Amino acid sequence: MVLNVGSLNVDIVFNVPHVVQPGETIQGHGVHRFAGGKGLNQSLALARAGVEVVHAGCIGSDGVWLRKVLEESGVGCEHVAVTGEVSGSAFIQVDKRGQNAIVVDAGSNGKVCAASFTSLFAAYGRADFLLLQNEVSDIAHLMELGQQRGMTVVFNPAPCGPEVNGYPLGLVDWLIVNETELVQLSDCDDMERGIERLLQRLTKVRIVLTLGSDGARYIDKETSFSVPAIETKVVDTTAAGDTFIGYLLAGIIEGKTIREAMELAAAAAAVTVSRLGAATAIPWRREVARLLCGEL
Ligand code: RIB
Repeated sequence: MVLNVGSLNVDIVFNVPHVVQPGETIQGHGVHRFAGGKGLNQSLALARAGVEVVHAGCIGSDGVWLRKVLEESGVGCEHVAVTGEVSGSAFIQVDKRGQNAIVVDAGSNGKVCAASFTSLFAAYGRADFLLLQNEVSDIAHLMELGQQRGMTVVFNPAPCGPEVNGYPLGLVDWLIVNETELVQLSDCDDMERGIERLLQRLTKVRIVLTLGSDGARYIDKETSFSVPAIETKVVDTTAAGDTFIGYLLAGIIEGKTIREAMELAAAAAAVTVSRLGAATAIPWRREVARLLCGEL
């Protein structure tokens, strides 16, 4: 089973000709409100891939519909609490090429407190996965709780700020990063040397590096290999990484090889980028299967 302690955001998406520059005012081509948040997106991807997942986190009373979105896809939401704060939100610009620029405000995601989940963690053990991103508070304690229960700790340090290097990253089993996050975490501009540094520092870690249209790469102390991205028409890249992570874990939990799990994840991410929005774009398993059969 997967326990995901993660964010839930209201995404306000503007379609723009280009990402707005300082001092500039531009005309958009439409605005939409979607469910999002890296945590919510990853839980949805897991559930739509067919994995049993419990989501824990905090929303404001304005965000009860976000919990419903998770529930409708089969995610366990008993531990999504309503706080007095406004829900987390994201302001997203999507340009003509489908590339995005995102500003996130934590809102109630910043009220997550690991101590309130102690009894929840008691239900999990060695066979289970703890999934974390960097959009909720108290990540360091959450990692410690996961490790105390013997869970496999999966961390996606996004968005990556300087605080991340103060977390007990040695407790992380799977680190899933993009190139920017790799540079920040390793404090090294050269990708290969950055990887080396992380492998030396985080003794048990397995690294999955997501590379957008260049696919993804797996690295541990013994091996390194890449899988390509699947070419598709790009409408909006939002939540592509989240979809990749959910489906990657799903594949691993099902007992696929890491390469097979990454190929499944790449296919799922390709479906996501062909659609607008975050939660709405994340495919169900049957849709990914159709893409892999050449039917989509
Ligand atoms: O990864 C995409 C997500 O990042 C969006 O849904 C937005 O809420 C931000 O958290």
